[in-house]
Amino acid sequence: MIEHLYIHIPFCPNICPYCAFYKESAGRERVEKFLEALLKEADHWSDRLRPRTVFFGGGTPSALSVPQFEKLLSGLQSRLDLSGLEEWTIEMNPATVSSEKADLLRNSGINRISMGVQSWDNEVLKALGRTHDAKKALESFDILRAAGFDNLSIDLIFGVPGQSLDSWRESLEQSILMSPEHLSAYGLTYEEDTDFFQKLGRGEMTPDEGLEADQFELTRELLAPSGYRQYELSNYAYEGRESLHNSAYWSGADYLGLGPSAFSTVGSLRWRNIRETGIYSESTLQGRTGVDFEEEVTNAMKFSERAAFGMRTLRGISLEDAAAWEGPLREAQHHGLVNLSEDRWILTRKGRLLADNVAEIFV
Ligand SMILES: C[S@@+](CC[C@H](N)C(=O)[O-])C[C@H]1O[C@@H](n2cnc3c(N)ncnc32)[C@H](O)[C@@H]1O
Ligand code: SF4
Repeated sequence: MIEHLYIHIPFCPNICPYCAFYKESAGRERVEKFLEALLKEADHWSDRLRPRTVFFGGGTPSALSVPQFEKLLSGLQSRLDLSGLEEWTIEMNPATVSSEKADLLRNSGINRISMGVQSWDNEVLKALGRTHDAKKALESFDILRAAGFDNLSIDLIFGVPGQSLDSWRESLEQSILMSPEHLSAYGLTYEEDTDFFQKLGRGEMTPDEGLEADQFELTRELLAPSGYRQYELSNYAYEGRESLHNSAYWSGADYLGLGPSAFSTVGSLRWRNIRETGIYSESTLQGRTGVDFEEEVTNAMKFSERAAFGMRTLRGISLEDAAAWEGPLREAQHHGLVNLSEDRWILTRKGRLLADNVAEIFV
């Protein structure tokens, strides 16, 4: 049985200039057809699914209207055995939160919300092309708490050109004041096919790696005394509030992804659904497969992926699991990137800043 389900909702109210996730603006007819296709795909897998975790990601799942959510949620509830569900997360953009939606989600069994706040500084929000401001994010957070959600996560971004260390400190302090149970802090990446990537290429944006490293370090320094444990390079949580869904990915568990662009890994197969909503919907509704990429995942691949993820999770990896990479790890130790602690390889302070380089050891 597959225990982890990801559902990709590809619609966004506004396209952010740094974002490379598969998404498009929502048109009503297109959404309706997409929902039908998604439910048909869920039907197809229902016998093999008994999810412990469900994650609605995007795009912006919260861009769906209340009637669209009603259709999706009741459709999934009637098709899937959700009796073993422990965590059901939905990503929300603060601009699309309303009390009506929050109540519907809460009453339908969704028990965790991850909200894309990004920053509490309106200038930084503007630079990121976001449509919400800090006041709206605050209101949305309060709406979610009032609806009864006791497991909230906030996404923040650092390394944004023009974002000072003080601005980042204030965003962290404001987040701590709000006491979300979980916090993700991502360094801005310049993804291909985004406006930011083109601006970088034209020299109109200049990353400041030194400042970004200071912002990364400050994150841990400020969050730790407030009870947030860094359990993965970009993720911090109160004890027991780590994301079960993401932890399952990192431990190499099987997962099924529904919707356009969604990846799945089940047994020795990995595949990706078509990255175009219209074609995905059409082929799924016509009973054809909506897959555009497939590969076999060997045990050796799974083993090295688990090791690379394990290293990012700061628990590190055991000497035994890392035996195949002992030579390069000793070399990395020599360069001060990793350390041995209680028979586990873990990243050092320098290694946390250069984690992508360390991950290359396992490729
Ligand atoms: C699918 S979005 C979250 C939900 C919603 N779409 C939103 O933006 O509010 C996932 C998260 O990825 C992060 N993200 C997206 N593109 C990024 C980039 N280029 N660099 C760093 N973080 C990024 C943002 O923090 C964002 O909240
Ligand atoms: S960051 Fe979120 S709202 Fe912005 S384009 Fe990406 S998925 Fe959509």
